Amino acid sequence: QGDPRLKAISEAIRVVPHFPKPGIMFQDITTLLLDHKAFKDTVDIFVDRYRDMGISVVAGVEARGFMFGPSIALAIGAKFVPLRKPRKLPGEVISEAYVLEYGTDCLEMHVGAVQPGERALVIDDLVATGGTLSAAIRLLERVGAQVVECACVVGLREVKGQHGLNGKPLYILVEPR
Ligand code: PRP
Repeated sequence: QGDPRLKAISEAIRVVPHFPKPGIMFQDITTLLLDHKAFKDTVDIFVDRYRDMGISVVAGVEARGFMFGPSIALAIGAKFVPLRKPRKLPGEVISEAYVLEYGTDCLEMHVGAVQPGERALVIDDLVATGGTLSAAIRLLERVGAQVVECACVVGLREVKGQHGLNGKPLYILVEPR
């Protein structure tokens, strides 16, 4: 990874120890959003990668996938579809549960937002276990879309082994610090 922009992107992400609980090194991308060059470089790297891949849907995961997804969607000529936490979307939804450290959570997508055969990119700020992205993939595949790739700003290299992501490729800009 010789791209000099990646170092600045990594350094723009604030690491907050013991948030939201002891032992967690929280990767805070809000400081990346404050740095215009690093924020723009982040979006540009994704746009350069995805602009000629025939992607018609950028699906963003609540909450921080919403901070990157729409800019990418507009730049590559795709629509943006929010994948939301339960009971947030007003229309008819489909739901996919996923396992958390304690208990489960759920992502929902509006029925009719994505058509069969559409090519989709899933975007989030961070991948840890891959459980959230896996639920996103399942939502899109249930309506007949093809998930071309999942993309995150920050991720652990271990999940690049693609287990749990249904074999879908995962693209990560930087590793956690
Ligand atoms: C974080 C992060 C990803 C997810 C990754 O969101 O923004 O969406 O965890 O974890 P995983 O790979 O182990 O599934 P969080 O669950 O904190 O929800 P929030 O964005 O609503 O705060």
